[in-house]
Amino acid sequence: MSEPVQTPPTFPRRIFSGIQPSGGLTLGNYLGALKRFVEKQDEGIETIYCLVDMHAITVWQDPVKLRQQTREAAAGFIAAGIDPRRSILFNQSQVTAHVELAWIFNCIARMGWMSRMTQFKDKAGKNSENVSLGLFAYPSLMAADIMAYKATDVPVGEDQKQHLELCRDIAIKFNNDYKVDYFPIVEPLIEGVATRVMSLRDGTKKMSKSDPSDQSRINLTDDADMIANKIRKAKTDTDPLPDSVEGLKDRPEARNLVNIYAALADLAPAKVIQDFAGAQFGTFKPALAELAVAKLSPITGEMTRLMKDPAEIDRILGKGADQADAIARPIVDKVYDIVGMIRSRQV
Ligand code: AMP
Ligand code: TRP
Repeated sequence: MSEPVQTPPTFPRRIFSGIQPSGGLTLGNYLGALKRFVEKQDEGIETIYCLVDMHAITVWQDPVKLRQQTREAAAGFIAAGIDPRRSILFNQSQVTAHVELAWIFNCIARMGWMSRMTQFKDKAGKNSENVSLGLFAYPSLMAADIMAYKATDVPVGEDQKQHLELCRDIAIKFNNDYKVDYFPIVEPLIEGVATRVMSLRDGTKKMSKSDPSDQSRINLTDDADMIANKIRKAKTDTDPLPDSVEGLKDRPEARNLVNIYAALADLAPAKVIQDFAGAQFGTFKPALAELAVAKLSPITGEMTRLMKDPAEIDRILGKGADQADAIARPIVDKVYDIVGMIRSRQV
């Protein structure tokens, strides 16, 4: 006789994602994450967005700059279209459920799993004996961020795929070890043409806020001249644009610029290629710069306006943290109960 089939519990869909306030937001963050976070607000599913300041300090952060960058990132989210009335927006350290769950996950995750994380290997480099313990445990805190809300859908750029697989492994192991169906198994949402925006100086490297060269990235705080200048100086080959997307295959820099154009214009790369087939970069780059300025400068302007009132930003983050806490608190309390911790304080 066959085993009775057990139907797994269904979890209500909930969207969670985070960005580190470890520097200014880049065009990569915007196209790979933030722009998509905004779109998700219209899907009728609860959206929770977090500035992960606890992740940021896994590498050294100057305290004054960290506070400034967290406010600036919050302003960037709101300026890009995150509506604090429709989404929960907060900074991670204000909701202690994240670290409480992260400790439990530190005891679930295995050293071997963490050692295989490519982001850790990249960030630690040859210096792995000398990086913080927090950097090693980073993916466990990330899993806790998501599972503290039993989130089911996580929009991210391509570079976070491995971390989300680890989040699934942790959730599965927790459910198995404690014989519960407590945590959902997350779905990574890695969608669109800009899931990996590359450096403007090297088409094989990811555009990153931590790249030492400011010319390698477009920051959401760059003004129109800076954006145009960086695009004009972006590395390319000397050939004109091809007449099909396949023609971009071995041309990482050209492909990157076409993908950026497509993502900013909400077009398929094939359509961009169709419009610019045979064009020289002398023609394409000014068109891209014009588009980038048109799309980004309203965001930059709104960010600057919001940054004039830091108290209002702090108020929004505080209110978001209260809302987040109300969801996470019972979920994480129940975890402590499942694990066997006595919780007998009178409050
Ligand atoms: P981070 O800046 O590392 O905290 O990344 C925050 C979000 O932006 C994550 O979902 C990343 O996958 C995404 N992201 C960061 N850099 C890029 C990039 N160059 N292209 C696409 N997505 C990116
Ligand atoms: N690790 C992510 C990054 O660097 C940021 C992050 C932290 C995150 N916690 C998260 C993303 C939870 C999605 C969900 O990009």
